[in-house]
Amino acid sequence: MAEDLFALARSAMRKAHAPYSKFPVGAAIRTSDGRIYAGCNIEVVSFPEGWCAETTAIAHMVMDGGGRIAEIAVLAEKLALCTPCGGCRQRIAEFADPRTKVHLCDETGVKETLLLGDLFPRGFAAEDLG
Ligand code: THU
Repeated sequence: MAEDLFALARSAMRKAHAPYSKFPVGAAIRTSDGRIYAGCNIEVVSFPEGWCAETTAIAHMVMDGGGRIAEIAVLAEKLALCTPCGGCRQRIAEFADPRTKVHLCDETGVKETLLLGDLFPRGFAAEDLG
């Protein structure tokens, strides 16, 4: 079911621009209405200014009209089961809900599926702004 997301995340990972960390990452999103977007990490020479694969995929979704994330697959070339970083958990949560599936992959496929609510419990939420 999520193997299509895995394949797209792996293709995206191969496009990574990660000359500084040499840690290519790919991600692919399925929206609740069935659209799919992928992304890779993109680094720049002023290192903190780069961004993550998940963020690129989210940007594609937003530029295509937005939506809600039903599932996301993440894959790193040099680390099996790479979980989204803290900043990306917050960014995913912006467009997702606690039941959103986060598929952790290795180079052969989906190896573990978590719920965003387990990966990012008690996150800062829109209601907290008052
Ligand atoms: N990276 C991602 O793209 N996603 C993650 O969830 C973890 C980290 C990227 C950021 C940076 O380009 C490289 O991996 C090393 O941190």
